[in-house]
Formats: sequence, C-alpha cells, structure tokens
Amino acid sequence: MNEAKVQTGPLGGSLSEQTTRPDCAVIALSHVTREYSGHAGVVRALADASFSIVAGEWVAITGPSGSGKSTLVNLIGCLDRPTAGELKIDNVDVASMSATELDRFRADKIGFIFQQFHLIPYLSAVENVMLAQYFHSMTDEAEARAALDKVGLGSRISHLPSELSGGEQQRVCIARALINHPPILLADEPTGNLDAANQTIVAELLQDLHRNGHTIVMVTHDPEMAGLAQRKIALSHGKVFCHPVGGPMVTLRR
Ligand SMILES: Nc1ncnc2c1ncn2[C@@H]1O[C@H](COP(=O)(O)OP(=O)(O)OP(=O)(O)O)[C@@H](O)[C@H]1O
Ligand SMILES: [Mg+2]
Repeated sequence: MNEAKVQTGPLGGSLSEQTTRPDCAVIALSHVTREYSGHAGVVRALADASFSIVAGEWVAITGPSGSGKSTLVNLIGCLDRPTAGELKIDNVDVASMSATELDRFRADKIGFIFQQFHLIPYLSAVENVMLAQYFHSMTDEAEARAALDKVGLGSRISHLPSELSGGEQQRVCIARALINHPPILLADEPTGNLDAANQTIVAELLQDLHRNGHTIVMVTHDPEMAGLAQRKIALSHGKVFCHPVGGPMVTLRR
C-alpha cells in the first residue's frame, strides 16, 4: 500500500499558494515554443508552453514517445533555446545571456541525470565526478569521494563505468550532478535502464534530495516514479497539460 504524506513547500505555506506567486518560481515558461527545421520540414516539438515551477518542488514530466519531453527538459536545462516565448530560470531570462554566460549559469544552477548515464568510459567513478568539478571551477578529490560515499559508492570509487552495474552507474551520475551544488536537478528517465531494486535506490536518493530542498524536474514513463512527484506535467504532441498542484505525495511501493 502506498502511504500518503501531506506536502508543504519549503518557503512555508501550501505549494498551490507558492505556485501562484510568480516571485517564487524558479522555472517560468511563458508561451514557449520550440520548432526544429529539417529536410522533412518543420516539427513543432513544444507548442506555446506556459507554466512555472517553484523552488523545492518535484515535478514529473510525462507523455508518450515523441511528445516533447526531452525538448522541454533541454530547454529548462539551458542546453537549447526556445524558438519563441520567454524562459526564466531563477528570474533570469535565458535569452538575455551569451553562450558563455549560459554555460556558466548552467554549471551553477543545474545538475543533469540521464537515462543513458553519459559517463566517460575510460575515467573511474571518482574521475567522472571530478570532471564535473573541473568544468565548473576546480577539482577536489576528497569532495568527489565524499559525494560518491553519499550515494553508497564509497567502495567503488576507482571502478570504471564498465565495472559498475547500471544502478551504480546511475548513482555516479547523481553524484556528478550534485557535486557543484546546483539548486535544480533535471532527470530524463533516471530509472529507465534500471531493475526494480536499483529503481528503489535511485528513487530514495531523489526523495532525499527533494527533502533537502532541491527542485527536481523528472521525465518518466513509470507511473510509480511519477507518483513520487508532487505534480505532473503531461505532454501530448508538444502541448502541455499541467495537473493540479498540492496533491498528496506517495512513497514508493516496496
Ligand atoms: N533535432 C531535432 N530535429 C528535428 N526533429 C526533432 C529533433 N529533436 C526532436 N525532434 C522531434 O521533436 C519531437 C519531440 O521529441 P522529443 O525528443 O522531445 O520527444 P520525447 O517526448 O522526449 O520522446 P521519448 O519519450 O521517445 O524520449 C519528436 O517528434 C522528434 O522527432
Ligand atoms: Mg526523450
């Protein structure tokens, strides 16, 4: 049986109150559209999306394959820019930044967790985490080791990705995503390649991060993972359907 928990926001008051206050939004989209132009014509991958996410909220992005979920996450992650509309992260309009400023901004604000892990195959677990430190500022091996220890990989720091299980690789990704202390975590199918036991470990880590105040935006096809979030944003053919805020949160079934 799932156990219901009443959820209040980190800023005090209910999440529905916070979400209606634009000054609390850490991610705000206003009429955002993303079109791709190719030899086969124009694809409107995201159409006129307007919604906001408050600091500390956990939102699940759901929808069928091709509905625009990765397009949306790439925009929020400042890996891509809207064709039209306004996207603000932490009250900054991403369109106002140069490519260099955007790189810096992304490194400070956002941690990425991908379904395919994207670890460097010839670097050990700790070196993969240190690479993220290097691109942000400077490396600190002790801190990288501590980050791996926190996700339960203290005994695997010298292993190459090929010497780690899928669940362990995903935990290296989580350590890498967190190493520079970004307030926002973007996860695209974080448990898509994991078995049930490892899904539970990753889900519990995400729950911990949420309790510690991180804003989490998570793409998932898994209803059980989506049920951990406070709110669902469903996509269909590039159109966004926001579900009500402030509903009960559930814990993962054992
Ligand atoms: N670079 C691109 N050029 C042209 N079309 C693209 C490009 N990237 C994505 N698309 C199209 O945009 C639409 C949305 O793609 P997107 O990758 O966002 O879907 P998704 O919901 O993440 O799907 P999945 O669940 O399969 O990962 C699809 O129709 C896709 O074919
Ligand atoms: Mg995708």
